[in-house]
Amino acid sequence: VNRRLGVALLGAGLAGRMHAAEYGRAAGLLADRGIRLELVVLADADLDRARSVARRSGIPVVEADWRAAVHRDDVDLVDICLPDECHAEVAIAAARAGRHILCEKPLAQTPAQGEAALAEIERAGVTAMVGLQYRRTPAAELLRRVIEDGRLGRPHTVRAYFARDVGADPANRGGWRFDGGRLGSGSVHALGPHVIDLLRYLVGEITAVAATVQSDVGTVRSDDGTGARASDSADVLLRFAGGAHGVLQTSWAAFGRKHHLEIEVLGGEGAARLVSDRLGQVQLAESAASAPGFRTVYSGPDQRLGRLLDLTPGVAVGLDSAQAVQLYDLGLAIAEGRPVAPDFRDGLAVDRCLAAIEQSSAQRRWVELTADHPPLAIARST
Ligand SMILES: NC(=O)c1ccc[n+]([C@@H]2O[C@H](COP(=O)([O-])OP(=O)(O)OC[C@H]3O[C@@H](n4cnc5c(N)ncnc54)[C@H](O)[C@@H]3O)[C@@H](O)[C@H]2O)c1
Repeated sequence: VNRRLGVALLGAGLAGRMHAAEYGRAAGLLADRGIRLELVVLADADLDRARSVARRSGIPVVEADWRAAVHRDDVDLVDICLPDECHAEVAIAAARAGRHILCEKPLAQTPAQGEAALAEIERAGVTAMVGLQYRRTPAAELLRRVIEDGRLGRPHTVRAYFARDVGADPANRGGWRFDGGRLGSGSVHALGPHVIDLLRYLVGEITAVAATVQSDVGTVRSDDGTGARASDSADVLLRFAGGAHGVLQTSWAAFGRKHHLEIEVLGGEGAARLVSDRLGQVQLAESAASAPGFRTVYSGPDQRLGRLLDLTPGVAVGLDSAQAVQLYDLGLAIAEGRPVAPDFRDGLAVDRCLAAIEQSSAQRRWVELTADHPPLAIARST
């Protein structure tokens, strides 16, 4: 058992700052299990930004070059919060150095890159997770429990929507995310991974997609006002291995939607939904159609996350809590040599689904996905 885990955090942008803030909470939970989690270095090409984040989170060393951080002797875990185009390359380098990995979503920009990264972590025998923290929200845990317990009957229809307004304002359409010339740009790559992973986690493997991906408001690069247009919305029909069907929409040009992820599952005996601004609860409608409709079911200490986070039912829960639990679960899995989910196979399944969506849109046809990488269940008792 490895009782000390030194972490190299790569990236001090939005994701890096979110992770940095939650290491404290995860370290507290892990200390309770006799494991010392320590952020030892933060790397970002923008050193001023790195220094400021390091000061706030008490990280003793900053580096401009991620390689210098990965190869430090006191680093066991590499946390990749760099832009998507860096993920596969950095994950491969970290695995070769024998480091465990947390890689922000998506795992890679193409399935080929994802396959290369998966092969390398399997060769190295390291533990590797993809940062799809929505699985670890109390709402997702509760919704999965409701489905597993058969309270909806057999799920037959799914509606998923992830909308943000980040690209609605032309002034915001800058940086790597909005550059359509780069692989993996567009709302479906930015927002899709969370929903696709949740759908796989809740309903099962996605076997086929039919999609249209488009630029409605012309999200061109604002760096120089030119460049290829990144797509800002996707409409996707879905088929699941268990026979369910559904629809997924993503948009980052959605006025009024700050961060709105919603999933509704209809089954033969009931329906349930989760919404991202109420992550401590699900809405549940059971049995008779004559019943009054959805009621609220709160997550609390009877759920694993509720116990870990000391949740009081009815008190709002944030995505930051899911981040803390994700880091805790990963630290525990590494220390105890156990598998963790979502792992790189799950990340690759998401990459394949994203590629199938793009392919379906380009070729105007259904695209089948092979289910040769089934998801691992999240361990419920730790
Ligand atoms: N799971 C989530 O909820 C979530 C949320 C936000 C972002 N993300 C993911 O996190 C990743 C980072 O996104 P972000 O929003 O933080 O991006 P960002 O642009 O805010 O930050 C990226 C940082 O990486 C640095 N950087 C870029 N290239 C580098 C290099 N080669 N070497 C060293 N530093 C480099 C930049 O200076 C910047 O500070 C993306 O893959 C994104 O999809 C996930």
